[in-house]
Amino acid sequence: MTDDQERVQPSGVWATAVGVAKVRALETGRENALFRDPLAQAFAAAGGLWPAPSPPPGDEAARRRRLGVAFSIVIRTKFLDDLLRRASASGIWQVVVLGAGMDSRAFRMDWPEGTRLFEVDTAAPLDFKASVLRQEGAAARCERIPVAVDLREDWPGALAAAGHDPMAPTVWIAEGLLIYLPEDAVELLLARIGAQSAAGSRMGLTLGSRGVIERFGADAAPGSAASMWVSEMPDDPVGWLAGHGWDAECHTLRERAAAYGRPMSTPPQGEERPGGLISAVRR
Ligand SMILES: C[S@@+](CC[C@H](N)C(=O)[O-])C[C@H]1O[C@@H](n2cnc3c(N)ncnc32)[C@H](O)[C@@H]1O
Repeated sequence: MTDDQERVQPSGVWATAVGVAKVRALETGRENALFRDPLAQAFAAAGGLWPAPSPPPGDEAARRRRLGVAFSIVIRTKFLDDLLRRASASGIWQVVVLGAGMDSRAFRMDWPEGTRLFEVDTAAPLDFKASVLRQEGAAARCERIPVAVDLREDWPGALAAAGHDPMAPTVWIAEGLLIYLPEDAVELLLARIGAQSAAGSRMGLTLGSRGVIERFGADAAPGSAASMWVSEMPDDPVGWLAGHGWDAECHTLRERAAAYGRPMSTPPQGEERPGGLISAVRR
């Protein structure tokens, strides 16, 4: 049987990872792309999302929401690419991508020799990913270590068993993940990350901005990404992360998009709060 025939098809929360890959494939095709992800199209195609299906006609509000989500994925990808490059340049050689999905940074970015990159997600998306990587003959540009575990279980144990060294600084990424976890699970995740983080570790997070669930999730189609969103960022993300032992900086999508030469076309809606793109350093 070929990989294609035996491949498990996306479902539930991990299907969102294939949707993210579709957005990255579309960005990769742009002349002035903010990043290039050559594997994204293969992930999207394997999950039945490439060529990108035409959206159902009619609903202008739904179309705008989809474009807004896609835009935020492009900006956050660039934000975290930059954060990882800075962490690598500072000498950090351990990278942990939580809820990695179809993240292909191990394959598409340059890494200093000795870099170990752990991809943590449940078994089904990691199996799907492995079959696409085999099909594409993809070769990682660092030591890549998939860790199949549910983040509601003992993932620090699984990470340690896979070779993570908590005594050496780590750069952690949780991209498009926390919005799918209830608040108590987010708190537990942060506490566990902190417990595995030597001083000088870094972290990049994306948080659902305030009000996004009401604006996007309330009338979201069943099974869509937005229908599974459950948590938004706290009122004071910097204070919240300080309580977890991190010096954090918050960026808004609007500010980062402008900095990347991709300004948002929509006017600000009222007062802009500190945003959902977080970069943090462990005290
Ligand atoms: C929207 S996708 C983002 C994927 C990736 N971070 C990216 O930006 O390309 C969310 C990912 O979180 C993973 N995820 C959600 N809940 C999880 C859990 N309890 N344990 C492990 N992974 C989880 C899903 O499987 C999925 O791959």
